[in-house]
Amino acid sequence: MSNQIILPRILQVGEGASQELPTILTSLGCKRPLIITDKVMVELGYASALQDVLARHSMGTDVFDDTVPEPTAASIQAGVQKARAGDYDCVVALGGGSPIDSAKAIAILARHGGTMRDYKFPRIVNEPGLPVIAIPTTAGTGSEVTRFTIITDETSDEKMLCVGVAFMPVAALVDYSLTLSAPPRITADTGIDALTHAIEAYVSQKANPYSDSQALAAMRLIGPNLRQAFHDGRDKKAREAMMLGSTLAGVAFSNASVALVHGMSRPIGAAFHVPHGLSNAMLLPTVTAFSIPAAPARYADCARAMGVATAQDDTDTANRKLLDELNSLNDELQVPTPVQFGIDRQRFIDLMPTMAEQALASGSPNNNPRVPSADEIVGLYQQIC
Ligand SMILES: [Fe+2]
Repeated sequence: MSNQIILPRILQVGEGASQELPTILTSLGCKRPLIITDKVMVELGYASALQDVLARHSMGTDVFDDTVPEPTAASIQAGVQKARAGDYDCVVALGGGSPIDSAKAIAILARHGGTMRDYKFPRIVNEPGLPVIAIPTTAGTGSEVTRFTIITDETSDEKMLCVGVAFMPVAALVDYSLTLSAPPRITADTGIDALTHAIEAYVSQKANPYSDSQALAAMRLIGPNLRQAFHDGRDKKAREAMMLGSTLAGVAFSNASVALVHGMSRPIGAAFHVPHGLSNAMLLPTVTAFSIPAAPARYADCARAMGVATAQDDTDTANRKLLDELNSLNDELQVPTPVQFGIDRQRFIDLMPTMAEQALASGSPNNNPRVPSADEIVGLYQQIC
């Protein structure tokens, strides 16, 4: 039995990694990039900093900054037009998960045409689009190292998962200094997303020895540093650990898949516009408690890797400590319940059966150690609201 592992061709990791963009473009044979980003990155000066460093190497660039959070099929169309109109030979994706996911989709549509729905899973998209060089500014989604993008169909509120080598960036510049300005709420939401990727990859039925090694390393980095990054965003050591942990968690889940938390989280995000990491956080303790009986040893490993249980703790003790930690993390990081977030309780309840169906249809719950029925998913939604 062997497992195929898919990774970017180049990873540049550490403080100042983003400044190496010209060298990396040259090594890839690219010289005319389109930077795809959002308005926040422009305001922070991150887009112009990249343009400046490229200009010093005589590389001209254009910027498309109209990507939106939780990108939709319609929202990326202007980017596709822009990418087609110029003589660009690659795309530089700068920002959190949404600009990177947008850039991946634009890179495919610009070269191959069609609409995003044409590329939706279960189709596996392997034909190369414009090469994507990803520069994440949150620690986070791991999108810089995954072969996925998620684009919402705004006509149906469906979060379309798109999968294949085509969506894997050719290079990822993992520069924690770009995360120093992320506000606490974004740090918390993206950090819990990264932690969820690592835990879900490790307990996934598709886990393999390679993804396990990356997932455990990610938990060792994220577990002891998430609170500190939330409380003191200027703490470089915590930011560096979170950034690397997020990328390793991305490698882990790109090669082992996510599971029930993500399966249930996407419908909440699509229906109620809850940020992705936050809806994961709302679900993580409850779904973990549901899943532990099917993989107690694996979850105990997670507790030990995160540093909340010791090697001497038996499996039950480690799992109790894991649940305590996930609950206290949500308290400390001020994760609201859906109702506290502003969701109408009755509407949430009314939508539970539909959300359960959508969760199952995504396929992610099938990777969970304990595969739930639709009724059990409804029961889990009830527990969190
Ligand atoms: Fe995620």
